[in-house]
Amino acid sequence: MRTQVGIIGAGPAGLMLAHLLHRAGVDTVVLERRGREHVRRRVRAGVLEHSTVELLRAAGLGGRLDREGMPHHGLSLRFDRADHRIPLTDLTGRSITVYGQQEVVKDLIDAREAAGASILFDVDEVSVHDPAGDRPRVTFTDAGGTARTLACDVVAGCDGFHGVSRTAFPPGALRTYRREYPFAWLGILARTPPSHHELIYAYSDRGFALHSMRSPEITRLYLQVPADERIEDWPDDRIWDELAVRLAVDGFDLRSGPVLEKGLTSVRSVVTEPMRYGRLLLAGDAAHIVPPTGAKGMNLAVADALDLSRALVPFLSRRSTELLDGYSERRLHRVWRAEHFSWWMTSMLHRFPDGDPFEHRLQLAQLRYTVSSVAAATSLAENYVGLPYDHS
Ligand code: APR
Ligand code: PHB
Repeated sequence: MRTQVGIIGAGPAGLMLAHLLHRAGVDTVVLERRGREHVRRRVRAGVLEHSTVELLRAAGLGGRLDREGMPHHGLSLRFDRADHRIPLTDLTGRSITVYGQQEVVKDLIDAREAAGASILFDVDEVSVHDPAGDRPRVTFTDAGGTARTLACDVVAGCDGFHGVSRTAFPPGALRTYRREYPFAWLGILARTPPSHHELIYAYSDRGFALHSMRSPEITRLYLQVPADERIEDWPDDRIWDELAVRLAVDGFDLRSGPVLEKGLTSVRSVVTEPMRYGRLLLAGDAAHIVPPTGAKGMNLAVADALDLSRALVPFLSRRSTELLDGYSERRLHRVWRAEHFSWWMTSMLHRFPDGDPFEHRLQLAQLRYTVSSVAAATSLAENYVGLPYDHS
């Protein structure tokens, strides 16, 4: 098999890259380890930045997003037993849209398939060879177990945090920066209307809680839990009781309902540098992880794909390396901005298990300042709605 760009991973990064390259006339093959239905159903994050929405629209993916996505113009920080609204749009002129990552993934898969493009699901034993040469290859076994080789001009490693692309960098070529947090998020999807029309980030004595949504009928909720927590220890009743306590303020009633999905999300920050080795380029979670508190993961993945597609087109058509040579540095500047914002939101909103009382007082001081100073609220808002793509 031969293609111009071999893409490993059918998450937002890989699918968006395939979609944008297809629109630019570039041939791609996407290799995905999991099955088609698994990828379409996997529940993940759900906040699209302003620029992500504009990009999806410009790329012909705005149809269902504009019908079903929920534009939001503010969010609440809940602490001191009260809500403090950050008016995102008043402060920045921009908004966010709540639309599940799996809906973006479905729209992208549908667009790829409508275009007759190649996504190979259920592949195994994926391995990248000769990334430093002119003819990199990806070997894998297909869904039927047959060993195959994909010859490429370029390989894009979009295979997430647990992917194999990074392992094709030679020893010493990658530097990894990481921060672990002593907690995880327990998330549920529930068939019940949202209890509030906007997202609520709650800092309570018992830890962080988040109220989000997917539609007028479906609520998404999260609880901070210890990092080594077992999901079996959280029957539905316990989750609802804990959410009710952490989200309690006068006049707020948490609506409960059947739990449709339940899962744990780890909370960590990781950046690997650089995002390129020869003709192997990394994008999305394969190169960087943010804690979910800033809602940046999917937006970074999509923005990586946009930059990479723009850099690959001149390279593939006329071997111009200028944009490709700057890819890693351009993206890492934006990645570190998002890393900082996500770390900051995480540090401000979670209870640290062994945190000293001084830390707790600092967190409250920061929260109170953030909601009472226009300058501080604007800083949160402009990061949350996302900096424009041309801003470095
Ligand atoms: N071979 C082929 N595919 C692989 C391999 C492999 N060895 N390893 C992983 N994959 C696939 C995964 O099954 C997944 O479908 O790569 C895909 C990576 O997708 P994501 O994890 O969604 O990563 P990305 O596209 O970078 O999107 C980042 O996803 O995890 C969330 O919070 C994160 O919102 C962010 C977004
Ligand atoms: C979600 O709706 O899943 C969600 C929203 C905001 C976050 C993280 C996740 O910060």
